[in-house]
Amino acid sequence: MDILTTIASSEPAVLLRGSFWIYPLVNAAHILGIALLIGAIVPFDLRLMGVIKAGRIRTLAGILVPVAASGLALAAVTGAALFIVKPVDYAQSDLFVIKLAVIGVGLINVGWVRSIPRWSELVQAEDSILNPTEPNRKLRIAAAVSIVAWVVVLLLGRMTGYFM
Ligand code: HEM
Repeated sequence: MDILTTIASSEPAVLLRGSFWIYPLVNAAHILGIALLIGAIVPFDLRLMGVIKAGRIRTLAGILVPVAASGLALAAVTGAALFIVKPVDYAQSDLFVIKLAVIGVGLINVGWVRSIPRWSELVQAEDSILNPTEPNRKLRIAAAVSIVAWVVVLLLGRMTGYFM
């Protein structure tokens, strides 16, 4: 609790609470981050799952993975700024704590995807008869977990604001 009250009375927190413009702009930047993350990850995961069949995964990964990663980074930085405005309230919100836990699941899932050999084969190797061009079952499952995790984070984020 002590650390949370210290955060709440810190200079950036006071600035964010007191400013007419900064808080809504940070909130808008949080939504921009979410839009980039969800907008990139959903089509990419659907392609990995085989629901979307068009486009080479290697090409799509080169575009959509950095966009999703930048969106997540923006959401994390702006989310931390929103958090310090009311840290005690957010720490006591079950929805917010579950949201952070599901973000953890999403990040662990990213690590799992990268550990699957077929992922490296798909994004690094040139297509040839010897190299597979489609995801295996493990990758399709990881892609489904990814979509569910990030959409649940979005819902929990919206509900946190709505119910607090
Ligand atoms: C990574 C660390 C993150 C932190 C610390 C964080 C923190 C926060 C905080 C404190 C709020 C304000 C809630 C309120 O309105 O009172 C918020 C709003 C929200 N967050 Fe996050 N967030 C993070 C990432 C994400 C991600 C990755 C997503 C979506 C995939 C997300 C979705 C949302 C949504 C939809 C809102 C409501 C925005 C609105 O309606 O104004 N957040 N977040």
